[in-house]
Amino acid sequence: MAPPTIAPVLIDRLRGDLETAGYDVVRLAAVLGPMAVAALERENGLPAVLVARSSDDPAATLARLLTLGDAVPTALAEAALPTLGVDGARALGLVDTDGESVRGTVDLRPVDVGGRVWWLTSDQDSSTTSRPVEPDHVLGVGGASRTLAELTVRTPAVRALDLGTGCGIQALTLTDHVDDVVATDISARALSYAAFNAALNEVEIEWREGSMLEPVAGEQFDLVVSNPPFVITPRTGELATYSYRDGGRSGDDLVRDLVTSVGDVLAPGGLVQMLGNWEIRRGRTWTERVEEWLEASGLDGWVIQREVLDPAHYAETWLRDGGISVERDRAAWEAAATAWLADFAAREVEGIGFGYLILRRPTTDRPRRHRLEELAGPVGPALGEQIAESLRVGDLLDGLDDDSLLELAPVVAGDVTDERHHVPGSPDPSVILLRQGGGFGRLIRADTVMSAVVGACDGELTLGQITAGVAVLLDEPIGQVRDAVVPALRELLVDGLLTIP
Ligand SMILES: C[S@@+](CC[C@H](N)C(=O)[O-])C[C@H]1O[C@@H](n2cnc3c(N)ncnc32)[C@H](O)[C@@H]1O
Repeated sequence: MAPPTIAPVLIDRLRGDLETAGYDVVRLAAVLGPMAVAALERENGLPAVLVARSSDDPAATLARLLTLGDAVPTALAEAALPTLGVDGARALGLVDTDGESVRGTVDLRPVDVGGRVWWLTSDQDSSTTSRPVEPDHVLGVGGASRTLAELTVRTPAVRALDLGTGCGIQALTLTDHVDDVVATDISARALSYAAFNAALNEVEIEWREGSMLEPVAGEQFDLVVSNPPFVITPRTGELATYSYRDGGRSGDDLVRDLVTSVGDVLAPGGLVQMLGNWEIRRGRTWTERVEEWLEASGLDGWVIQREVLDPAHYAETWLRDGGISVERDRAAWEAAATAWLADFAAREVEGIGFGYLILRRPTTDRPRRHRLEELAGPVGPALGEQIAESLRVGDLLDGLDDDSLLELAPVVAGDVTDERHHVPGSPDPSVILLRQGGGFGRLIRADTVMSAVVGACDGELTLGQITAGVAVLLDEPIGQVRDAVVPALRELLVDGLLTIP
């Protein structure tokens, strides 16, 4: 199926009709109701189709036509598109007509990403078409797209790059805080969808076709975001590959190469935020492997492993994503799963890690800072702000020796709670935990001294005064209390459990 056509006059009419119908996230949720919306999130469109068919709201008709793949009577479609009309929608490549009915040929839906609602076109997924997706499928907004958008630091910047833009969602959100946005993709189809989406949402983006960093070689950016095709697929030539997820490289080479070379296009102080998979090979930890990549990058690196799957689970996940299931075709499923397991076995892969990579080019030649950690729990909203603040505080503390640190007067963040666990009958807690409600939801094990110091951080007293007071209270030498808590205080400050007013 061809991507939509960029015809500015028709796109203006389309935008007007979508606005008039109130085709947005809130209105659709109200029209369809919570059960249908929840079912849609599980890729079951039937309840939404049934509700929308019984509604005379134009937003419901547009949902049938543009999101749900339902055949809509022509007269009803004309009424929902009063200025564009069915002919205009067909000329834009959004619908096909069949006698008395009209059916959408692309997916066009409102999505709430990056703090704003966008109209996004992409290819229809297999739950809409009931067919496996094509190798050049252009993906709509998925979980990974939302994750990256949530992570993205949204401080104003001059130039940003979205590498592997797909339908353009990351690039669109960047236009809200970046002067010049460049977006690349190896797929001309994806770039056509993305350019259509930019026109529909009235934002300017520069598009470049090509692989990885080739289209921007020699240029510099303040921010690079990428949700790259990081899925590890056996390169047997027999398995179906999809441009939206397979970069055509062996193992995790694509992610490694991007990490080690992205510094070439990064301005001093510039930031990279990307998602990736990495292989965990027998006898080696994930941190050893990723640390090598960071070393080779010449950049600061903060890598957060969110999840690890074993090879069988990984293969199942991506086979299901590609529409191959035991129920549908056992022989095809077994052949593909066998190829996947053999590919991982050949490199002695025992696990596949997924996570976030945040890289930065410092403005000086100071030693690079690398932080690799596992954080598997739920994360709070506005992660991008938390990450920006962590980087800012990390820079600030880098220049402070311990004596200067003790002159700070931090305050406990509002989302931090203190949890105490007691052995039954014991008056003293055996475990004290500091729990961060937002951000990365960190859980920090504390002892009585640490908990007393943190509890006294009211923004008035300095850490020097607090540690001296706690030492007197607990009848311990001041130096010993300070030596014990200062490294942990640095971490609490960087991670936002303590803030500097
Ligand atoms: C997982 S999709 C991400 C789409 C979008 N940025 C998002 O966040 O939803 C990966 C994109 O990378 C593109 N891609 C695949 N191989 C590439 C390569 N070698 N160079 C650049 N882009 C590539 C695919 O066409 C696809 O659009």
